[in-house]
Amino acid sequence: MKRIPEPFRIKTIERIALTTRAHREQALLDAGLNPFLLRSDDVFIDLLTDSGSGAMSDRQWAAMMAADEAYAGSRSYYRLADTIEKVFGHRHTVPAHQGRGAEQLLYPELVKRRGAKQPVFLSNFHFDTTKLHIELAGARALNALTKEALDTATYHDWKGNFDLEELARLIETHGAANVVALVATVTCNTSGGQPVALANLRAASQLAREAGIPVVIDATRFAENAWFIREREAGQAQREVADIVRDMMACADIAVMSSKKDGLVNIGGFCSFRDDQDLFRAVQERCVVSEGFITYGGLAGRDMEALAVGLEEAMDADYLRYRVGQVAYLGERLRAQGIPIQHPTGGHAVFVDAAALLPHLPADSFPAHALACELYLEAGVRAVEIGSLLLGRDPVTGLQEKAPLESMRLTIPRRVYTNDHMDYVADALAEVARRAARIRGMVFTYEPALLRNFTARFRWAGD
Ligand code: F0G
Repeated sequence: MKRIPEPFRIKTIERIALTTRAHREQALLDAGLNPFLLRSDDVFIDLLTDSGSGAMSDRQWAAMMAADEAYAGSRSYYRLADTIEKVFGHRHTVPAHQGRGAEQLLYPELVKRRGAKQPVFLSNFHFDTTKLHIELAGARALNALTKEALDTATYHDWKGNFDLEELARLIETHGAANVVALVATVTCNTSGGQPVALANLRAASQLAREAGIPVVIDATRFAENAWFIREREAGQAQREVADIVRDMMACADIAVMSSKKDGLVNIGGFCSFRDDQDLFRAVQERCVVSEGFITYGGLAGRDMEALAVGLEEAMDADYLRYRVGQVAYLGERLRAQGIPIQHPTGGHAVFVDAAALLPHLPADSFPAHALACELYLEAGVRAVEIGSLLLGRDPVTGLQEKAPLESMRLTIPRRVYTNDHMDYVADALAEVARRAARIRGMVFTYEPALLRNFTARFRWAGD
């Protein structure tokens, strides 16, 4: 098949420039060897995250001009709520300033209502902010991810799936009454932006519902997941993405979303509820306390307008083909140069298997973080660790937890870079890989207690 180019033209540009190696060495030292602490002006190609880093369309910018900035009852809120009802089938929406704002509203309320003695949440894989908000609410976050996800070298269509046997076992061991909710993360960020099959989502949801457990969808990357279902699942190829999204959403009564990904906007989040008025009101009350009034939740009217347009643009088949195709393109370039990655690539990023590339570095010297530092020094490309550094310590024992995968994530912002940029990244990483055996591990010089990966500082082991 002929490769189809980007389904858009570039209407405005932002200059970026490559710095010298000496400049980058100093910048990284000043940042405590933590790419999160770099100034973005010192970065050439920024693949830290796909969160809030995308480019908006002309239609989104136009919608922003027509926004209603009323404190209460904003027309823009109603436009957003109507769109969410149309796209997700959820009648009630509580906006929030971003995904974790929505999590902070929802999860403590669910824990309170369940009143469990030893509350746990079960997921295919809890994202780190999700895990944190669950733990801050006094519950534990347990994962039941398919074992296929851990074998990065072997192709599997659904590396975001639930391990259904493990899920059933966890419900049995903890007792359904202790399970506050099932959280289905689509796509599964931590395993590589990997999709969950509709059949698997339905089966997991059925297991939970039969046991009286509420089901939440973390819909942060809902459109990318729907695209994989259309591409890979039997009987789905001819369907509209929007219809697949409705089927995914039918598996849950609650959604929580960071709009900064598949919402195609730079800020925002929300919780939505199919019809649970009572829970909706309770979450609204919490919203007023910490995010803002119930019709803006920490967002400007213009943010809600842009999101309403973005949610629909994200389901456009041409866009999704390009989006997932660009990620696959970078993945194939890396594989052709012998670099181990999570195969196949997922929806938003290429996950480089740092444990395989740097087998001499143990998990507690953070191989993927060390690799990200080297890549920055080499080429000004900023990547991020998704592994033991991000996972952190066991909240009870205080011991370092060992992540199932040590990944360096090359996260691709939506509609921002071209495949020339991807070629540059692939060549730079190949150069770094040639000296892999000489890359040293990392040691903390400062380790914050919560979400430590964002602000920790390091030195190279041996320095
Ligand atoms: N859920 C998932 C699956 C996420 O990937 C994120 C954020 C959140 C929730 C929290 O949303 O950032 O708007 O507060 N992921 C970003 C990332 C930070 O880089 O993967 P947020």
